[in-house]
Amino acid sequence: MRVAVTGGGGFLGSHLCEALLRRGDSVVCLDNFSTGDPENIAPLLSHPRFTFLHADVSVAVEVTGRVDAVAHLASPASPPDYLRQPLETLMVGSRGTENALELALRDGARFILASTSEIYGDPLVHPQEEGYWGNVNSIGPRSVYDEAKRYAEAVSAAYRRTHGLDVGIARIFNTYGPRMRPHDGRVVSSFITQALTGEPLTIYGDGEQTRSFCYVDDLVRGLLALLDSSEMGPFNLGNPVERTVSELAETVLAMTGSRSEVRHHPLPTDDPVRRRPVITRAQEVLGWQPEIDIVEGLRRTVAHFAAREDGLGASAAAIRGSQDETVPLAAATGTVAQTIPGPASAVGVTPATAAGPSASGG
Ligand SMILES: NC(=O)c1ccc[n+]([C@@H]2O[C@H](COP(=O)([O-])OP(=O)(O)OC[C@H]3O[C@@H](n4cnc5c(N)ncnc54)[C@H](O)[C@@H]3O)[C@@H](O)[C@H]2O)c1
Repeated sequence: MRVAVTGGGGFLGSHLCEALLRRGDSVVCLDNFSTGDPENIAPLLSHPRFTFLHADVSVAVEVTGRVDAVAHLASPASPPDYLRQPLETLMVGSRGTENALELALRDGARFILASTSEIYGDPLVHPQEEGYWGNVNSIGPRSVYDEAKRYAEAVSAAYRRTHGLDVGIARIFNTYGPRMRPHDGRVVSSFITQALTGEPLTIYGDGEQTRSFCYVDDLVRGLLALLDSSEMGPFNLGNPVERTVSELAETVLAMTGSRSEVRHHPLPTDDPVRRRPVITRAQEVLGWQPEIDIVEGLRRTVAHFAAREDGLGASAAAIRGSQDETVPLAAATGTVAQTIPGPASAVGVTPATAAGPSASGG
Protein backbone atom coordinates (compact mmCIF):
# COMPACT_ATOMS: atom_id res chain seq x y z
CA MET A 1 0.00 0.00 0.00
CA ARG A 2 1.22 3.56 -0.75
CA VAL A 3 0.18 5.98 1.99
CA ALA A 4 0.42 9.79 2.00
CA VAL A 5 0.93 11.07 5.55
CA THR A 6 0.43 14.81 6.03
CA GLY A 7 2.18 16.10 9.14
CA GLY A 8 4.48 13.08 8.89
CA GLY A 9 7.39 15.07 10.30
CA GLY A 10 5.61 15.62 13.61
CA PHE A 11 5.42 13.59 16.79
CA LEU A 12 2.59 11.20 15.88
CA GLY A 13 3.17 11.43 12.14
CA SER A 14 6.78 10.25 12.30
CA HIS A 15 5.80 7.25 14.43
CA LEU A 16 3.04 6.45 11.95
CA CYS A 17 5.46 6.70 8.99
CA GLU A 18 7.83 4.32 10.76
CA ALA A 19 5.09 1.82 11.55
CA LEU A 20 3.89 1.86 7.93
CA LEU A 21 7.40 1.26 6.63
CA ARG A 22 7.95 -1.52 9.17
CA ARG A 23 4.98 -3.45 7.87
CA GLY A 24 6.00 -3.06 4.23
CA ASP A 25 3.99 -0.06 3.04
CA SER A 26 5.40 2.86 1.03
CA VAL A 27 5.10 6.33 2.54
CA VAL A 28 4.90 9.80 1.04
CA CYS A 29 5.38 12.20 3.94
CA LEU A 30 4.30 15.84 3.55
CA ASP A 31 5.27 18.47 6.10
CA ASN A 32 6.28 22.11 6.35
CA PHE A 33 7.89 21.66 9.80
CA SER A 34 5.86 24.49 11.29
CA THR A 35 5.72 22.45 14.51
CA GLY A 36 7.49 19.26 13.43
CA ASP A 37 11.19 18.51 13.49
CA PRO A 38 13.30 17.27 10.55
CA GLU A 39 15.17 15.09 13.06
CA ASN A 40 12.00 13.01 13.51
CA ILE A 41 12.26 11.62 10.00
CA ALA A 42 16.01 11.97 9.38
CA PRO A 43 16.58 8.21 9.79
CA LEU A 44 13.79 7.47 7.29
CA LEU A 45 15.11 9.62 4.44
CA SER A 46 17.37 6.88 3.09
CA HIS A 47 14.61 4.24 3.21
CA PRO A 48 13.77 3.07 -0.32
CA ARG A 49 10.01 3.15 0.37
CA PHE A 50 10.02 6.62 1.96
CA THR A 51 9.55 9.91 0.10
CA PHE A 52 9.53 13.32 1.75
CA LEU A 53 7.83 16.37 0.24
CA HIS A 54 8.33 19.74 1.90
CA ALA A 55 4.86 21.24 1.49
CA ASP A 56 2.32 23.48 3.15
CA VAL A 57 -0.78 21.32 2.74
CA SER A 58 -3.03 24.36 3.25
CA VAL A 59 -1.71 25.58 -0.11
CA ALA A 60 -1.70 22.29 -2.02
CA VAL A 61 -1.29 18.55 -1.62
CA GLU A 62 0.49 17.43 -4.77
CA VAL A 63 1.62 13.84 -4.89
CA THR A 64 2.85 12.23 -8.09
CA GLY A 65 1.66 8.68 -8.62
CA ARG A 66 -1.26 6.83 -7.14
CA VAL A 67 -1.82 6.57 -3.38
CA ASP A 68 -3.98 3.93 -1.69
CA ALA A 69 -4.55 5.89 1.50
CA VAL A 70 -4.18 9.38 2.93
CA ALA A 71 -3.61 9.95 6.65
CA HIS A 72 -4.20 13.63 7.40
CA LEU A 73 -2.31 14.58 10.54
CA ALA A 74 -0.98 18.03 9.59
CA SER A 75 -1.98 20.59 12.22
CA PRO A 76 -0.40 22.31 15.18
CA ALA A 77 -1.54 20.22 18.14
CA SER A 78 -0.34 21.69 21.42
CA PRO A 79 -2.03 24.80 22.87
CA PRO A 80 1.08 27.03 22.70
CA ASP A 81 1.56 26.01 19.06
CA TYR A 82 -1.96 26.71 17.90
CA LEU A 83 -2.29 29.86 19.99
CA ARG A 84 0.91 31.11 18.31
CA GLN A 85 -0.40 30.14 14.84
CA PRO A 86 -4.15 30.75 15.05
CA LEU A 87 -4.82 31.49 11.38
CA GLU A 88 -2.50 28.74 10.14
CA THR A 89 -4.31 26.29 12.43
CA LEU A 90 -7.71 27.28 11.04
CA MET A 91 -6.30 27.06 7.53
CA VAL A 92 -4.78 23.61 7.85
CA GLY A 93 -7.95 22.27 9.47
CA SER A 94 -10.08 23.68 6.63
CA ARG A 95 -8.12 24.15 3.37
CA GLY A 96 -5.52 21.58 4.37
CA THR A 97 -8.19 18.97 5.05
CA GLU A 98 -9.97 19.78 1.78
CA ASN A 99 -6.70 19.42 -0.15
CA ALA A 100 -5.95 16.09 1.51
CA LEU A 101 -9.51 14.89 0.79
CA GLU A 102 -9.10 15.87 -2.88
CA LEU A 103 -5.96 13.75 -3.12
CA ALA A 104 -7.87 10.76 -1.73
CA LEU A 105 -10.77 11.47 -4.09
CA ARG A 106 -8.41 11.65 -7.09
CA ASP A 107 -7.20 8.12 -6.43
CA GLY A 108 -10.27 6.59 -4.77
CA ALA A 109 -8.07 6.16 -1.69
CA ARG A 110 -8.93 5.52 1.95
CA PHE A 111 -8.79 8.77 3.97
CA ILE A 112 -8.29 9.02 7.71
CA LEU A 113 -8.47 12.23 9.71
CA ALA A 114 -6.53 12.87 12.90
CA SER A 115 -9.27 14.64 14.83
CA THR A 116 -9.17 15.29 18.55
CA SER A 117 -10.85 15.03 21.91
CA GLU A 118 -11.01 18.83 21.76
CA ILE A 119 -14.10 18.25 19.62
CA TYR A 120 -15.84 17.75 22.97
CA GLY A 121 -14.57 21.12 24.29
CA ASP A 122 -15.08 21.44 28.04
CA PRO A 123 -17.40 18.45 28.20
CA LEU A 124 -20.66 18.50 30.11
CA VAL A 125 -20.80 14.71 29.84
CA HIS A 126 -18.25 12.41 31.42
CA PRO A 127 -16.68 10.18 30.23
CA GLN A 128 -16.94 11.16 26.59
CA GLU A 129 -18.40 8.84 23.99
CA GLU A 130 -18.59 9.56 20.30
CA GLY A 131 -22.32 10.39 20.39
CA TYR A 132 -21.64 13.43 22.59
CA TRP A 133 -21.68 16.63 20.49
CA GLY A 134 -19.45 18.69 22.73
CA ASN A 135 -19.34 22.01 24.53
CA VAL A 136 -17.07 24.32 22.56
CA ASN A 137 -16.67 28.09 22.86
CA SER A 138 -16.67 29.06 19.18
CA ILE A 139 -14.88 32.40 19.69
CA GLY A 140 -12.48 31.66 22.56
CA PRO A 141 -8.72 31.45 21.98
CA ARG A 142 -8.81 27.63 21.70
CA SER A 143 -11.54 27.76 19.09
CA VAL A 144 -8.94 28.09 16.33
CA TYR A 145 -8.06 24.47 16.99
CA ASP A 146 -11.36 23.05 18.20
CA GLU A 147 -13.48 24.57 15.44
CA ALA A 148 -10.90 23.81 12.75
CA LYS A 149 -11.07 20.15 13.77
CA ARG A 150 -14.86 20.24 13.93
CA TYR A 151 -14.89 21.64 10.39
CA ALA A 152 -12.36 18.99 9.33
CA GLU A 153 -14.74 16.30 10.63
CA ALA A 154 -17.69 17.98 8.92
CA VAL A 155 -16.02 18.27 5.52
CA SER A 156 -14.66 14.71 5.75
CA ALA A 157 -18.14 13.37 6.54
CA ALA A 158 -19.57 15.43 3.66
CA TYR A 159 -17.02 13.94 1.21
CA ARG A 160 -18.16 10.50 2.34
CA ARG A 161 -21.83 11.36 1.83
CA THR A 162 -21.36 13.37 -1.38
CA HIS A 163 -18.60 11.47 -3.17
CA GLY A 164 -18.74 8.10 -1.41
CA LEU A 165 -15.14 8.67 -0.28
CA ASP A 166 -13.84 5.99 2.11
CA VAL A 167 -13.41 8.32 5.12
CA GLY A 168 -12.51 7.38 8.71
CA ILE A 169 -12.24 9.73 11.69
CA ALA A 170 -10.05 9.22 14.76
CA ARG A 171 -10.69 11.43 17.79
CA ILE A 172 -7.31 11.30 19.46
CA PHE A 173 -7.01 11.90 23.20
CA ASN A 174 -3.77 13.04 24.88
CA THR A 175 -0.92 10.97 23.55
CA TYR A 176 2.66 11.04 24.77
CA GLY A 177 5.95 9.39 24.02
CA PRO A 178 9.42 9.81 22.55
CA ARG A 179 9.84 12.71 20.06
CA MET A 180 7.53 15.10 21.84
CA ARG A 181 9.31 18.43 21.86
CA PRO A 182 10.61 19.32 25.36
CA HIS A 183 8.98 22.75 25.29
CA ASP A 184 5.82 21.98 23.31
CA GLY A 185 3.61 22.98 26.24
CA ARG A 186 1.99 19.57 26.65
CA VAL A 187 1.80 18.30 30.15
CA VAL A 188 3.89 15.12 29.91
CA SER A 189 6.76 16.72 27.99
CA SER A 190 6.66 19.81 30.21
CA PHE A 191 6.79 17.81 33.45
CA ILE A 192 9.61 15.57 32.23
CA THR A 193 11.64 18.53 30.96
CA GLN A 194 11.08 20.48 34.18
CA ALA A 195 11.93 17.47 36.33
CA LEU A 196 15.12 16.72 34.39
CA THR A 197 16.32 20.32 34.55
CA GLY A 198 15.40 20.84 38.19
CA GLU A 199 12.86 23.55 37.36
CA PRO A 200 9.53 23.73 39.21
CA LEU A 201 6.78 21.60 37.69
CA THR A 202 4.03 23.91 36.44
CA ILE A 203 0.49 22.90 37.32
CA TYR A 204 -2.36 25.02 36.03
CA GLY A 205 -5.19 25.27 38.54
CA ASP A 206 -5.32 22.99 41.57
CA GLY A 207 -4.09 19.95 39.65
CA GLU A 208 -7.31 18.04 40.25
CA GLN A 209 -8.34 18.29 36.59
CA THR A 210 -8.00 14.93 34.90
CA ARG A 211 -6.67 13.68 31.61
CA SER A 212 -6.16 10.28 30.08
CA PHE A 213 -2.76 9.50 28.57
CA CYS A 214 -2.14 7.11 25.71
CA TYR A 215 1.32 5.88 24.79
CA VAL A 216 2.26 6.67 21.19
CA ASP A 217 2.76 3.03 20.07
CA ASP A 218 -0.78 2.20 21.20
CA LEU A 219 -2.18 5.21 19.38
CA VAL A 220 -0.37 4.34 16.16
CA ARG A 221 -1.79 0.80 16.32
CA GLY A 222 -5.23 2.39 16.56
CA LEU A 223 -4.60 4.62 13.55
CA LEU A 224 -3.42 1.61 11.53
CA ALA A 225 -6.52 -0.38 12.53
CA LEU A 226 -8.67 2.52 11.35
CA LEU A 227 -6.65 2.90 8.14
CA ASP A 228 -7.05 -0.80 7.34
CA SER A 229 -10.81 -0.74 7.91
CA SER A 230 -13.47 0.98 5.87
CA GLU A 231 -15.21 2.30 8.97
CA MET A 232 -16.17 5.95 9.27
CA GLY A 233 -16.39 6.20 13.04
CA PRO A 234 -15.71 8.62 14.57
CA PHE A 235 -13.61 6.55 16.95
CA ASN A 236 -12.23 7.76 20.26
CA LEU A 237 -8.60 6.65 20.41
CA GLY A 238 -7.05 7.12 23.81
CA ASN A 239 -6.36 5.51 27.11
CA PRO A 240 -9.45 5.46 29.35
CA VAL A 241 -7.47 5.35 32.60
CA GLU A 242 -8.11 8.79 34.08
CA ARG A 243 -5.53 10.62 36.15
CA THR A 244 -5.19 13.97 37.81
CA VAL A 245 -2.46 16.36 36.78
CA SER A 246 -1.08 16.34 40.31
CA GLU A 247 -0.76 12.55 40.20
CA LEU A 248 1.16 12.74 36.94
CA ALA A 249 3.53 15.31 38.45
CA GLU A 250 4.21 13.03 41.41
CA THR A 251 4.92 10.06 39.17
CA VAL A 252 7.31 12.01 36.96
CA LEU A 253 9.14 13.31 40.04
CA ALA A 254 9.43 9.80 41.46
CA MET A 255 10.54 8.34 38.16
CA THR A 256 13.23 10.92 37.44
CA GLY A 257 14.39 11.19 41.05
CA SER A 258 14.05 14.95 40.65
CA ARG A 259 13.74 17.33 43.60
CA SER A 260 11.87 19.95 41.59
CA GLU A 261 9.05 21.62 43.46
CA VAL A 262 5.50 21.92 42.12
CA ARG A 263 4.14 25.42 41.33
CA HIS A 264 0.51 26.25 40.67
CA HIS A 265 -0.56 28.82 38.08
CA PRO A 266 -4.03 30.08 37.08
CA LEU A 267 -6.03 27.77 34.82
CA PRO A 268 -5.97 28.95 31.16
CA THR A 269 -9.22 30.03 29.44
CA ASP A 270 -11.52 27.14 28.47
CA ASP A 271 -9.10 24.49 29.76
CA PRO A 272 -11.28 21.38 30.11
CA VAL A 273 -11.67 20.06 33.63
CA ARG A 274 -12.20 16.38 32.84
CA ARG A 275 -11.34 14.20 29.89
CA ARG A 276 -11.69 10.47 29.49
CA PRO A 277 -12.61 8.55 26.37
CA VAL A 278 -15.13 5.78 26.16
CA ILE A 279 -13.36 3.43 23.74
CA THR A 280 -16.00 0.70 23.45
CA ARG A 281 -16.57 1.49 19.77
CA ALA A 282 -12.88 1.16 18.90
CA GLN A 283 -12.67 -2.03 20.97
CA GLU A 284 -15.66 -3.66 19.34
CA VAL A 285 -15.35 -2.41 15.75
CA LEU A 286 -11.58 -2.03 15.28
CA GLY A 287 -10.50 -4.62 17.88
CA TRP A 288 -8.22 -1.96 19.38
CA GLN A 289 -7.36 -0.91 22.90
CA PRO A 290 -4.27 0.46 24.62
CA GLU A 291 -1.80 -2.03 26.06
CA ILE A 292 1.01 0.06 27.52
CA ASP A 293 0.50 1.32 31.05
CA ILE A 294 1.56 4.77 32.19
CA VAL A 295 4.60 3.57 34.14
CA GLU A 296 6.09 1.73 31.17
CA GLY A 297 5.13 4.53 28.78
CA LEU A 298 6.68 7.19 31.00
CA ARG A 299 9.78 5.05 31.51
CA ARG A 300 10.35 4.94 27.74
CA THR A 301 9.58 8.64 27.36
CA VAL A 302 11.85 9.75 30.20
CA ALA A 303 14.64 7.58 28.76
CA HIS A 304 14.22 9.30 25.41
CA PHE A 305 14.30 12.79 26.93
CA ALA A 306 17.29 11.92 29.12
CA ALA A 307 19.22 10.71 26.06
CA ARG A 308 18.75 13.94 24.13
CA GLU A 309 21.88 15.80 23.09
CA ASP A 310 20.48 19.29 23.72
CA GLY A 311 21.39 19.59 27.38
CA LEU A 312 18.42 17.68 28.78
CA GLY A 313 20.50 14.51 28.85
CA ALA A 314 23.27 16.26 30.76
CA SER A 315 20.76 17.67 33.26
CA ALA A 316 19.30 14.21 33.74
CA ALA A 317 22.74 12.77 34.44
CA ALA A 318 23.41 15.54 36.95
CA ILE A 319 20.14 14.80 38.75
CA ARG A 320 20.95 11.09 38.85
CA GLY A 321 24.42 11.88 40.22
CA SER A 322 22.98 14.09 42.96
CA GLN A 323 20.80 11.32 44.40
CA ASP A 324 22.06 9.57 47.50
CA GLU A 325 20.23 6.49 46.43
CA THR A 326 17.99 5.64 43.54
CA VAL A 327 14.28 5.44 44.34
CA PRO A 328 12.97 2.18 42.86
CA LEU A 329 10.12 3.08 40.53
CA ALA A 330 7.54 0.62 41.84
CA ALA A 331 8.19 1.71 45.42
CA ALA A 332 8.06 5.34 44.45
CA THR A 333 4.76 5.08 42.65
CA GLY A 334 3.00 2.21 44.40
CA THR A 335 1.67 0.47 41.30
CA VAL A 336 -1.82 -0.98 41.42
CA ALA A 337 -3.74 -3.02 38.88
CA GLN A 338 -6.49 -1.22 36.98
CA THR A 339 -8.62 -2.50 34.16
CA ILE A 340 -9.67 -0.69 31.03
CA PRO A 341 -13.46 -0.80 30.96
CA GLY A 342 -14.88 -2.53 27.91
CA PRO A 343 -15.61 -5.92 26.35
CA ALA A 344 -14.62 -9.18 27.99
CA SER A 345 -11.21 -9.08 26.31
CA ALA A 346 -10.19 -5.93 28.24
CA VAL A 347 -6.54 -5.86 29.16
CA GLY A 348 -5.39 -5.16 32.70
CA VAL A 349 -2.99 -2.25 33.06
CA THR A 350 -0.85 -1.24 35.98
CA PRO A 351 -0.57 2.52 36.21
CA ALA A 352 0.83 4.31 39.21
CA THR A 353 -1.63 5.35 41.88
CA ALA A 354 0.39 8.47 42.45
CA ALA A 355 0.27 9.65 38.85
CA GLY A 356 -2.06 11.68 36.66
CA PRO A 357 -2.61 14.03 33.69
CA SER A 358 -2.82 17.82 33.22
CA ALA A 359 -2.81 20.69 30.78
CA SER A 360 -4.46 19.50 27.63
CA GLY A 361 -2.90 19.36 24.23
CA GLY A 362 -3.88 17.90 20.93
N1 LIG B 1 -0.52 14.29 20.26
C1 LIG B 1 -1.74 14.32 20.73
O1 LIG B 1 -1.94 14.11 21.94
C2 LIG B 1 -2.91 14.60 19.83
C3 LIG B 1 -4.19 14.60 20.39
C4 LIG B 1 -5.29 14.86 19.57
C5 LIG B 1 -5.11 15.08 18.21
N2 LIG B 1 -3.86 15.08 17.68
C6 LIG B 1 -3.73 15.36 16.25
O2 LIG B 1 -2.76 14.52 15.66
C7 LIG B 1 -2.04 15.23 14.65
C8 LIG B 1 -0.56 15.16 14.93
O3 LIG B 1 -0.30 15.77 16.18
P1 LIG B 1 1.15 15.76 16.84
O4 LIG B 1 0.97 15.60 18.28
O5 LIG B 1 2.02 14.81 16.12
O6 LIG B 1 1.60 17.27 16.57
P2 LIG B 1 2.93 17.81 15.87
O7 LIG B 1 2.86 19.29 15.98
O8 LIG B 1 4.12 17.13 16.40
O9 LIG B 1 2.73 17.35 14.37
C9 LIG B 1 1.97 18.05 13.44
C10 LIG B 1 2.75 18.10 12.15
O10 LIG B 1 1.99 18.79 11.16
C11 LIG B 1 2.86 19.66 10.47
N3 LIG B 1 2.06 20.73 9.88
C12 LIG B 1 1.32 21.66 10.53
N4 LIG B 1 0.74 22.49 9.63
C13 LIG B 1 1.13 22.06 8.41
C14 LIG B 1 0.86 22.50 7.08
N5 LIG B 1 0.07 23.56 6.84
N6 LIG B 1 1.41 21.82 6.06
C15 LIG B 1 2.21 20.75 6.29
N7 LIG B 1 2.50 20.28 7.51
C16 LIG B 1 1.96 20.94 8.56
C17 LIG B 1 3.82 20.15 11.53
O11 LIG B 1 5.00 20.68 11.00
C18 LIG B 1 4.06 18.88 12.31
O12 LIG B 1 5.13 18.13 11.78
C19 LIG B 1 -2.60 16.66 14.65
O13 LIG B 1 -3.56 16.77 13.63
C20 LIG B 1 -3.27 16.80 16.00
O14 LIG B 1 -4.35 17.70 15.96
C21 LIG B 1 -2.76 14.86 18.46
